[in-house]
Amino acid sequence: MLPALGERRVMLGDAQDRTFASAMWDGAICQVVWQSGHVSRYPPALLQELVAAPQRRRSVAQRWDSAQVLPVVEAPMLFADESARLDAMRALRDFGVLRVRGLDVDDEATVRFMRDLRLPIWEGPFGVTVDAKLVAEPFNVSESSEALPMHTDLAGYAWPPSGQFLHMLSNEATGGDSVVVDGFQVLDHLREEAPEAFDLLSEVEVAHRLFSPDRETYGRAPLVRLGLDGSVIGIRFSNQTLEPLPLEEPRIGAWYEAYAELTQRLHDERYTVSFRLEAGDAYLIHSHRVLHGRSAFDAAGIRHLRDAYFEFDNLLGLIDLMEGVAR
Ligand SMILES: [Fe+2]
Repeated sequence: MLPALGERRVMLGDAQDRTFASAMWDGAICQVVWQSGHVSRYPPALLQELVAAPQRRRSVAQRWDSAQVLPVVEAPMLFADESARLDAMRALRDFGVLRVRGLDVDDEATVRFMRDLRLPIWEGPFGVTVDAKLVAEPFNVSESSEALPMHTDLAGYAWPPSGQFLHMLSNEATGGDSVVVDGFQVLDHLREEAPEAFDLLSEVEVAHRLFSPDRETYGRAPLVRLGLDGSVIGIRFSNQTLEPLPLEEPRIGAWYEAYAELTQRLHDERYTVSFRLEAGDAYLIHSHRVLHGRSAFDAAGIRHLRDAYFEFDNLLGLIDLMEGVAR
């Protein structure tokens, strides 16, 4: 291994490089000699890592419903107090949502906040940031004053950005409360109470498309993504950008029934949490887990929400660094 990064240099193509010859302790270091003569040395810290590795990054997603008080942090604390920042990041990891208050609202504030948090912005065809504010000729429902049903953004990607930052820059509107729901909690209950519907949603591919005259996103995948152990590790849901299921799909009728069941549950007040964002308020979500929406608002008032996307893996990496898990 190269000592600086611990990257593996030996290739396992040669049988002699993967055939054990002997092992011995050299003080506290475990030394393994392979038939090729290559020597592997495992100091205690590396051995401990090997023991801990199976649990590293295992999901700690704590399910929640309408009774949940969402974690919240004041933005200045994130940068003034490292333990407060770590607590906030862990809350975002575990609950999939974190409210932030006291942010700047100038035109650069959204990008600056993400940069200061060390979360690189995922840039898509609709820009580095995406504005949701009322315009005369809305491109989509987010630019109208209509209620926005629960959804995940950019469902028409094979891998939609897994984190989202929703930053209110101004809000003088009446109504327009933000709504979030824990998709994992809803899916857990669906799986218990309607297992056939759950299976269909995790097995049948369906397409989503978001586009404009000069921009195109299109992707096909099941709405529910399962890990190798069968656990739920992702949901995509965007009724507004859902493409019709092909008529050749043999389970088309049952799939739409399952989709309707999921839709009803995602909007059930037993699961949803609503709150109002004033200017300078924001929230971050694990967007492969937590869906967001908003209630309708009075079109007379200014309401300007700015979105930015990021990869949740980068948040997990920052937590590892702060916890000292990463060497
Ligand atoms: Fe959205």
